[in-house]
Amino acid sequence: MPASARGLACRALAWGHRRLVNMDELKRQAAARALEYVHDGMRLGLGTGSTAKHFVELLGERVSAGLQIIGVPTSEATRADALRCGIPLATLDEVDQLDLTVDGADEIDPALNLIKGGGGALLREKIVAAASDRMIVIADDSKWVGVLGRFPLPVEVIPFGFAATQRAIAKAFAQGGVSGQMVVRKGKDGHVFVTDGGHWIVDAHLGRITDAPRLAGLLTGIPGVVEHGLFIGLATLAMLAGPQGIRVVERP
Ligand code: A5P
Repeated sequence: MPASARGLACRALAWGHRRLVNMDELKRQAAARALEYVHDGMRLGLGTGSTAKHFVELLGERVSAGLQIIGVPTSEATRADALRCGIPLATLDEVDQLDLTVDGADEIDPALNLIKGGGGALLREKIVAAASDRMIVIADDSKWVGVLGRFPLPVEVIPFGFAATQRAIAKAFAQGGVSGQMVVRKGKDGHVFVTDGGHWIVDAHLGRITDAPRLAGLLTGIPGVVEHGLFIGLATLAMLAGPQGIRVVERP
């Protein structure tokens, strides 16, 4: 490669790296802001993903400084992170209702409906969020969208009877006024991705989901579908970090 092209490629790489670093900084800022809502004695749901990981790390620092809370992790990955950060943990069988869950999202719309599950933890994330009085979503502002659906919708399914379940999902999509390719998620090793619960995930490339609550209901009614990534009416607040600062959005 000529030196000039190498220089350009290198600059592009450096720019890409800077952009990544900045995105990560925004995620950390959103996580730090959510920490302001955490108080002594709280029972907290701990989300999954790169943004939630920042929250867990910052929470760990507060716990080392004396904050008394109990966390319920939404994945094995978050459990490991939380233990590493010295956060006392419990399961949903050991505590009653949680006070607050803090989690990331793949897309957030103006009604604070979400697409989640890009990290594959949607089932436990939804169980924990539903068991919480409040849910704060933390994200960089690229996750904010007018209409959900550009991010592929994860649908968690039981491997048994997969083809029949996939046909039922396609039918639900048609009834819900959407369509698009369904792709079985693969892991980094090239094999089918298996969730913490032992299930598979189908990522549906729908583009635009005009009636997310209706689609959520249709998917929930399919026997082989364990859960889907539409989080309807669960988030109460969103912390969106952008270059101009943090925007706090309340559910209308
Ligand atoms: C995990 O299953 C997801 O729901 C994550 O919360 C979501 O994918 C956001 O992840 P990032 O914070 O890594 O973008």
